[in-house]
Amino acid sequence: MCGIFGYVGDESAGPIVYRGLETLEYRGYDSAGVALRSGGSDELTIEKRAGEVAALSVPTVPDAISAIGHTRWSTHGAPTDENAHPHTGCDDRLAIVHNGIVENYEAAKADLDEHTFTSETDTEVVAHLLERELDSLEESGPDSPPRDGSPGRPDGGTASREGESADAPDSSDVAWRVRRALESVVDRLDGSYAIAAIHERDDCIVATRNESPLVVGHGSNAAFLASDVPALVEHTREVTYLDDGDVAVLTPDSVSIYRDGRRVEPSISTVEWDADAAQKGGYDHYMRKEIHEQPTALRQALGSRVDVDTGTASLDVDFPQGYLESVEEVQFLACGTSAYAGRYAATLFESLADVRATSVTASEYAFTGGRDPWRTLAVAVTQSGETADTLSALREARGAGARTLGVTNTLGSSVTREADDALFIRAGPEIGVAATKTFASQVSTLALLAIAVGRERGTLTAATAREHLEDLTALPGAIQQVLDREEQIRAVATTFADSDAFFFVGRSYGYPVALEGALKLKEISYDHAEGFPAGELKHGPLALVTDETPVLAVLTDGAGRRESLNNVAEVQARGAPTIGVTTAGVDAGSLDVAFEVPDAGVFSPLVANVYFQLFAYHVANEKGRSIDKPRNLAKSVTVE
Ligand code: G6P
Repeated sequence: MCGIFGYVGDESAGPIVYRGLETLEYRGYDSAGVALRSGGSDELTIEKRAGEVAALSVPTVPDAISAIGHTRWSTHGAPTDENAHPHTGCDDRLAIVHNGIVENYEAAKADLDEHTFTSETDTEVVAHLLERELDSLEESGPDSPPRDGSPGRPDGGTASREGESADAPDSSDVAWRVRRALESVVDRLDGSYAIAAIHERDDCIVATRNESPLVVGHGSNAAFLASDVPALVEHTREVTYLDDGDVAVLTPDSVSIYRDGRRVEPSISTVEWDADAAQKGGYDHYMRKEIHEQPTALRQALGSRVDVDTGTASLDVDFPQGYLESVEEVQFLACGTSAYAGRYAATLFESLADVRATSVTASEYAFTGGRDPWRTLAVAVTQSGETADTLSALREARGAGARTLGVTNTLGSSVTREADDALFIRAGPEIGVAATKTFASQVSTLALLAIAVGRERGTLTAATAREHLEDLTALPGAIQQVLDREEQIRAVATTFADSDAFFFVGRSYGYPVALEGALKLKEISYDHAEGFPAGELKHGPLALVTDETPVLAVLTDGAGRRESLNNVAEVQARGAPTIGVTTAGVDAGSLDVAFEVPDAGVFSPLVANVYFQLFAYHVANEKGRSIDKPRNLAKSVTVE
């Protein structure tokens, strides 16, 4: 992921944007760059280089009062000076910065054969598309926006979109053209993006987003733009969270938001965070940063491996010809969070691939492989690739003759050397001891394997595979919607932080998420938290339920909602506060707190898990716990 910061106001823009980049550096430190507009000479100055923000000197263009900047976490193209943002087209009229992945950039690039490219990035393609669009807007008529309240251009042209507010002229001709160009270009982009653009002829920033965060800050004679709130709070607490598809035009004295071409009133929220705390390296903890990285992590896990049209999941693993077809049993061996990912995966394998699947706590593993060990696939799931219990189970399976697969986040780790094959979850580094993004990436990667096995075995039709792949590829956007509600989750977590104990319940795919939700909370808040199958509460744990023990329930699709609602009613009858995660638009009874997720089929509980992660984080934060390094725990446990 990357960080974007923008400023336009009445002060020198260089140092302000540089400071913003320092604060956003947790989002990536492969390269950093800025584009500043000199008002005196009507030109852009671009400075960028590989490495951390510190490698870039504080930009000084004395008469620049507008600038955009970027910290990069590489996706397309190595971390080099050339690939650093900002990017321009063939000339330096307009510069852009981008966070996200434009999936169809290669096709778009093929259509720009008269343009010369200087980087390997998807972003540069967008810069060239914008340049071409600006050329055509300039050629097609007088360069004026509607200034007189009329919806079209003053020459009576038809470039204005139908429905555009008649009383909302753009701040300038240039702002109008850049906005129009951006609206037109993003219409043709697939993927995720937060994009900010700056033009040499006007002090304005034009920005838009789709599935990547972007927040506008409202200052006094200034406007700010950032990927995340922590970079804004030293300047302002008044912010507007852009929605997907919104286009923002920032000038020193105005912020205009356009939705479907029509200007809308910005919805302004007041940030409650303490400015000092928010300055601690951007996010206050790695764990929170990693929770927020999930949309990007999932795009990387799924990206090139998914072909929705053909219902195909291709994994970079060379199983022997016909092996997947012949598999009789899959065993998942893992510890901690990875064990819950394995449990989720076991249900996926049974349901999608119709193959017997079990999930075993690695330290309890004893090989049970049916008649033919070779037809048993033993899958060691381990983020670090170094967990001793997991490696030990893997060795036992291998020793018994099973084929082994290591599913890991760590290139070159022990599991990649010891297993017959390795499959990477591509989540990027995870530093917080409590695993977060790697859980989502493990489940999603294993879901691809389940689909591949189901297709090979002929137990999953292409049409059903397509539906699951569509749900998987929608996960980054669905998770981003949860992340955008963090403030709401924080408020609920604060309300319940002093409870005696917490119970998490779910059925089917909701059960491993209930276990993982409880694990997160106990790991970092040190509170008593347990996960149960929702139906099992009445067989014992109900004795623990009081009005001081909140029950958190997964009530989404894929989690046995109807039956679980009965179990929720049972705890409500005993006075327990209930917090439920439901599928949007579905009646979820009378919960004390209801959080929603978009319908993501059997992956809906994976989206619900993000609420539990943020809930745990904010309970622990409220208590002042050592969130990234909880007591007695370690990220990678290399002893049995
Ligand atoms: C440790 C960590 C857990 C982690 C588990 C398995 O116990 O504290 O957060 O889930 O190891 O780690 P692995 O690297 O094998 O996924």
